[in-house]
This record gives sequence, C-alpha cells and structure tokens, in this order.
Amino acid sequence: MGWAEAFPRKGLFVATKLPVARPRSVAATKTAFTYPAETAFAVDKRQYLFDHAYIARRETLVFNDGFPDTRLAPIDLLIREYRRFGNYRFTAKFLSYGPVQGSENLRNELARFLNHSRGLQVSPANILITKGAQMAMYLASQILVRKGEEVAVGEPGYLGASEVFRAAGANLNFIPVDKDGMDIDAVEQLCKKKKLRMLYVIPHHHMPTTVTLSAARRQQLLELAKKYQFAVVEDDYDFDFHYASSPIMPLVSVDTCGNVIYVGSFCKTIAPAIRIGFLVAPVNLIEQATWLRKLVDRQGEQLMEEAMANLLRNGDIDRHLKKANKIYHERRDLLCTLLRKELKGVAEFDIPAGGFSLWATFGDRNVKTIAAGAQKLGLGMADGDDYWHQKPGRVNGVRLGFASLNEKEMVEAVGLLKKAVEGA
Ligand SMILES: Cc1ncc(COP(=O)(O)O)c(C=O)c1O
Repeated sequence: MGWAEAFPRKGLFVATKLPVARPRSVAATKTAFTYPAETAFAVDKRQYLFDHAYIARRETLVFNDGFPDTRLAPIDLLIREYRRFGNYRFTAKFLSYGPVQGSENLRNELARFLNHSRGLQVSPANILITKGAQMAMYLASQILVRKGEEVAVGEPGYLGASEVFRAAGANLNFIPVDKDGMDIDAVEQLCKKKKLRMLYVIPHHHMPTTVTLSAARRQQLLELAKKYQFAVVEDDYDFDFHYASSPIMPLVSVDTCGNVIYVGSFCKTIAPAIRIGFLVAPVNLIEQATWLRKLVDRQGEQLMEEAMANLLRNGDIDRHLKKANKIYHERRDLLCTLLRKELKGVAEFDIPAGGFSLWATFGDRNVKTIAAGAQKLGLGMADGDDYWHQKPGRVNGVRLGFASLNEKEMVEAVGLLKKAVEGA
C-alpha cells in the first residue's frame, strides 16, 4: 500500500515518501462476496405468496391491515420497569435459564387478568407464554395436526394462521364467513364427511371482515366440537380492544369439556415489536407445547416477562387499555363519518365493534386498481388479495386500519382514497 519500502539484503523500511491517505467511497471498495447465493443442495420452497410489502413503507401514509398506533405505546412504563433491573441483587434470579413455560409471576398475573377481563377460569398451569399469538398458533398446530389431517378455517380468513397449519401438514377446508361469523352449518356438513381434527376461529372480530360470531353459532360450535371431538383454536388476539358496551365472552370461558384452546397476545397492547403472547389450554396440551417450545426457543425474555407481570399487577395495562380504547373508538367513528361523507355509495361497510380496522367493500370496482392508484398518490393500502385462500370468488374488499392514524392523517388518507377510487 506504499507505506514501506523493501531493500534487498537490508530490510524493510518506512517509505521516505508516504502515500496520501484519501477516503475511498464505499462503492469503489465494493467487496466481492464469494459466498454462494444459492445452496448446492435442494431446498423446497414451501411458503405461498403472502406479502405485506406495503407495511414496510413507513414514510408514506398507510391504511394498514389493523395495527395499533405505536405513538401511544406505553414504552415509558416498560422502561420504568426495566430500570428496576439495574439493581443486580434483585435481578440476578432472572438472568439465568428460567422456566420454559414463562415467568411464574407473569402467568399468575395473566390468569388473574384473563379471569377479570374475559371470565376465564384458568390457573397458571394452563398458560404457556409465547412470542406473540403467532407462536402460540404454531405450537398448538404442530402438537395437534399430523400430515393430511383436516383443519377448518374461515374464507375469507387470516392467511398468517392458515400458512402455519399448512406447514404442520394440514389439509385446509374453507368455511364461508358471513355477517354472523363462520357458517357452523357448513362445519357440521364437513364433520359428516371428514374427520375434522381442528378448527381455527377468530370469534371476536374476524380477520378480515371484523364480524362477530353470533351467540347461537358459538353454542352450535361448542356442541359440534363436543360431538365430533375436534379441537377449536380460538384466536382472540384483539379482545382487549372493544368499543361496544360489552364484548361477548370467549368460547373458552364456557368450555367445560376441554375442546377449546385459547390464543391471545399483548403485541397489540404495547406494540407489535414487543413479543408477548400466550396459549391457554388444558395441562396435558400445555406440557406438550412447552416441550416443543423448548426445542425452538429455550424460553422467553425473562426481564420482559417480569416487566409485563408488574405492569399487569399495578394496573398500568388496564389504564393503558382504557386510554387506547377511547382514542381508537374516536378514530373508528371518524373513519366511518369520513367514508360516509366522501365515499357515499362507493365504499360499503358495517361499523366494526372493536379491533383496529374496518372492512370496506367497493362493489364491482377493483380493489387492486384502487390500491395501485392510492400507491401512486402516496397512500399505502392492501390490495385485497391476502385475505382469500381461493382467489376466484374473492370480494372487492379491503381492511382499512384506523387505529394508527390521527385525525389529520385520517382526513388526508380518506381524501387520497377518494381520489384513487375516482381514478380507478
Ligand atoms: C387474526 C390475527 N391473529 C394473530 C395475529 C398475530 O399476532 P401477534 O403479533 O401476537 O403474533 C394477527 C396479527 O395481526 C392477526 O391479525
């Protein structure tokens, strides 16, 4: 590099004329990565396309699929709890390997929280702490489903769950979803023809259409599950966000036979990046799921779990939920008002009872074209495809997430959506 000069039989000397060191641009020094882009051996491509590319574009205005507003996330409270861990003598016991099933404190607090918020009569032994609802669904389906076994899911539905069930080897059966939720008569027809192993249901605010499973259908589903002995996986990831006077209690709260497995999450309560969810089930299933969890992830983040336990214990989570619900309720109402005003006769919707988004349909207008137009105007939104397992038969509908837009952003977003619809 010019810093030294070699003289035969004399040695190596510092150069008399040193080189001038100039910064080199990164582009000019581009490293040649020699590691192959592809394996030499075959790797099956198993995922089906399910791409939330629009979520990543944080800089633009986005009608997302229904996420909380991270500006409201109680990170300050979490940090306050974390600060306590600065005292090593207090923290030492949480820094080594801990319980695979999750912090005992958290499971105790959670059992209490689930009891007072949704009437679940469960003990800490019935709870496995997971990294979000997603991991809970993965563990439950890996334990329950063997290759080729029959699993029922809603159509339209949550492909993020269906993909997990497919990965477990499930043969998916699509059950129509109408304004009262999953069509349980169709489930009964299915049970008469096939041995159903598991049914996945989002009874509270169905993804994507936000409908609630009616009381009569809940009863019917529990009776069927008992008669045909299949497992019901109840995904109640957004139970804590409800704007009507009283939410319907989960199926699991009235299950006395051990048919229902309950999945929940705090990922929408604090922020999606804070990964704490839970699986509630009879002890024999929890034991198996705990074993499996240990194979992929020795345990959760103990400090985080302890911090969450404290937030539950001292009422901070309840207070945050109260505050967030009030704000999301107002945002839901604002979106409904704006849609009625700006897209009257174009966008059809029912007022969602809770959750983070509204399901809007656009008649024979193509949502894909609308989404593409919106994109050009700087508004991100889904194109309606990711809710359907079977593409023919899809309705021109899309989820419009209201929770993460403040008033100004919401007005702007609906204005852009209107322009996009006019141009479609
Ligand atoms: C219906 C449904 N279930 C589960 C999840 C996953 O939640 P988590 O972030 O807790 O894994 C989502 C995510 O948005 C969802 O829409």
